[in-house]
Amino acid sequence: MLKIFQMPIIAPSLLSANFLQLQSDCEMLNKSEADWYHLDVMDGRFVPNISFGPMFVSFFRKATTKTLDVHLMIEEPERYAEVFKDAGADILTVHLEACKHAHRNIQQIKSLGMKAGIALNPHTPVNLLSDIIHDLDLVCLMSVNPGFGGQAFIPQTLHKVRALKQMIQSSKSGTLIEIDGGVTLDNASDLIQAGADVLVAGNTVFRASDPLDTIHRLKQS
Ligand code: DX5
Ligand code: ZN
Repeated sequence: MLKIFQMPIIAPSLLSANFLQLQSDCEMLNKSEADWYHLDVMDGRFVPNISFGPMFVSFFRKATTKTLDVHLMIEEPERYAEVFKDAGADILTVHLEACKHAHRNIQQIKSLGMKAGIALNPHTPVNLLSDIIHDLDLVCLMSVNPGFGGQAFIPQTLHKVRALKQMIQSSKSGTLIEIDGGVTLDNASDLIQAGADVLVAGNTVFRASDPLDTIHRLKQS
């Protein structure tokens, strides 16, 4: 079960952390108001970048009791669901564009005891989820093209958040809306007002002069 979180949920993306000082970055996150660790797994095929795999997730599992929100940007994610469960993932999100059988993938993730999410690239319309929305714990709307931290927010995402919120409310599914990419202190409150529940933030947190205060301010959005 996921804990009850005070909204908005703040999920710093460790992709933007300094990998030479991960221990102190984890200590900072643990004492911060951040709710989740957002962990970006990239395979160099679904996205043009390679990041880290389950071994890293298991190290983060030892470093925190916070929720591990694992974002798989990989082809054939069904091949790895069990491995990421064993590594300690609490939430596993797969891309609709990488799934031939998204419904089956969601059932697999849930049967392993994790919360299940679907991520949508910027070009993918939210209405493609209308027949599975009640099965989803989370929808991750990519507000940049996946693969890299530090990119500019795509404004069209705000319309997608509103449309998705309507779908979720009329289905009474309770699905969380997560925004991933280019989230800043300037756009956070617009996203919350549009209906976002979870804000992922990489560069905004880890390039800040005061990450703890930045997380606090995101939480106040
Ligand atoms: C991009 C990743 C994001 C990324 C966000 O493919 O999914 O989670 O780390 O980084 P920022 O917040 O810097 O855009
Ligand atoms: Zn991500």
